[in-house]
Amino acid sequence: MAGRLEGRVAVITGGASGIGRATAARFAAEGARVVIADLSEARAQETLSEVRAAGSEALFVKTDTSVLAENEALADAAIAAFGTVDILVAAAGVSNARYISGEVVEGPADRTAGFIINKPVEYWEKVLAVNLTGVMYTDRAIARRMVDLGIKGSIINISSAASKVPLPGAADYCVSKAGVWMLTKVLAVELAGHGIRVNAIGPGYIDTPMTAGASGDEARRRQMVSTMPLGRMGEAEDVANTALFLASDESSFFTGEILFPDGGMFTG
Ligand SMILES: NC(=O)c1ccc[n+]([C@@H]2O[C@H](COP(=O)([O-])OP(=O)(O)OC[C@H]3O[C@@H](n4cnc5c(N)ncnc54)[C@H](O)[C@@H]3O)[C@@H](O)[C@H]2O)c1
Repeated sequence: MAGRLEGRVAVITGGASGIGRATAARFAAEGARVVIADLSEARAQETLSEVRAAGSEALFVKTDTSVLAENEALADAAIAAFGTVDILVAAAGVSNARYISGEVVEGPADRTAGFIINKPVEYWEKVLAVNLTGVMYTDRAIARRMVDLGIKGSIINISSAASKVPLPGAADYCVSKAGVWMLTKVLAVELAGHGIRVNAIGPGYIDTPMTAGASGDEARRRQMVSTMPLGRMGEAEDVANTALFLASDESSFFTGEILFPDGGMFTG
């Protein structure tokens, strides 16, 4: 039986780790060829191995998504290699200004140090540059090629459940993810006439290197799980499966929508 993404090409930013890596493997298993864009070449190699083990082709393009020109180069490299880009998953992101991927970043002992009135504005600028402006740059670069080549593609932006709840000390992250949600809606309306769909995913707590610092601490893990009616943290595969639905034709009447794989986190 043909895979659900047979013959398609997907660009996945943040594909060297966590949610991006799981999405690359899931898409490859469904027949997609994938282009991995990330800062880390070493960790991306592991994703490339997983994609090849699933029987598909993969390319790595070293990319800092917060730099406009690097997103343009990424889009050009994907088209040069595979002739098309049908799917974009914009998963590159940071949890805070001192995180890139996998580092355990301890918060300040005094939690008010992270409040807006106390936190250095450079931290805000860094998080917004990667999580919001970077996503806009990648969306823009890929969408322009889709329009030029007449590709009826699917763009999927990774937002967060933090887009709808105020987390004290994480205004930069919450605002960046709320911005991604609105960016998704505006782009969906702007691109609908070209047959391009744009949706977002707002994961709850997912077991990846980004949450390893918190979830590795038993008390904090229990506290996180207690917010989730389904009683467990999410797996990267839970988000990859959501992305697969949004990438595939099964979601052909969805655009401008956000789906929350969050174990029921903010249900009531
Ligand atoms: N893990 C969670 O609980 C959770 C929840 C909600 C949303 N998210 C979002 O999911 C996405 C993926 O996170 P994850 O949990 O897989 O974390 P992760 O740290 O495992 O992966 C993030 C990847 O993004 C890459 N990256 C960071 N900055 C980049 C840049 N400027 N250019 C290119 N690549 C860059 C990192 O190198 C890393 O490979 C992020 O946008 C994150 O905010 C995660």
